Amino acid sequence: MFAFKVDDEIELRLLEERHAEEIFAVVDANRAHLRQWLPWVEEEVSASDAKDYIKKMRERFAAFTGMALGIWQQGRIVGAIGLVNIDLHNRWAEIGYWLDARAQGRGIITRACRALIDYTFDDLKLNRIVIRCAEGNYKSRAIPERLGFKLEGRLRQTIWLYDRFWDAMMYGMLADEWKAREQVSGD
Ligand SMILES: CC(C)(COP(=O)(O)OP(=O)(O)OC[C@H]1O[C@@H](n2cnc3c(N)ncnc32)[C@H](O)[C@@H]1OP(=O)(O)O)[C@@H](O)C(=O)NCCC(=O)NCCS
Repeated sequence: MFAFKVDDEIELRLLEERHAEEIFAVVDANRAHLRQWLPWVEEEVSASDAKDYIKKMRERFAAFTGMALGIWQQGRIVGAIGLVNIDLHNRWAEIGYWLDARAQGRGIITRACRALIDYTFDDLKLNRIVIRCAEGNYKSRAIPERLGFKLEGRLRQTIWLYDRFWDAMMYGMLADEWKAREQVSGD
């Protein structure tokens, strides 16, 4: 099993089909919170849908085109994070994430991102990481901003959510910039 221990509280593990019921229960309990920014929530209506998604992501991991990790906080799944796209040729990847509403406000995603970014630059040897957020998703935008990503641009009307387009705010971090930040912060 593939796992990163982020710190004493949080662990990231590659999602496996046997986790489908537990992760579905978290999604199901958080529909109102998640659906505003994550339209796939509407289509995940059973543990079997969660299982299909995990299976697809494991196939993508085998091909190194994606990676889905569960976030365990003190033994309980509280969300997910992953590389929703990996472009090995151009050596960049895109991070996505979500969290149980009750687990918000403790820096869990910020800490999980930091660990995933270290892995992506140090182990996968990629050169660039992006995080794309809808303009109005201020909680999500705060994560790349807190981690020192550069706001590289606004992709106009890129995200369709229910009844309207949102501009996507594109944040980027380069491997050299991340290393320089680590040296300054001593992480
Ligand atoms: C986006 C989302 C993951 C953000 O969750 P979050 O809890 O705000 O993010 P973090 O876990 O990084 O926590 C940051 C908060 O913890 C606080 N915090 C506490 N300890 C911290 C620490 N050690 N490090 C960083 N922040 C810490 C921060 O101040 C911040 O609080 P604030 O919102 O009051 O300013 C969550 O709101 C969510 O799941 N939204 C719906 C799905 C979604 O939008 N996904 C992203 C699509 S692009």
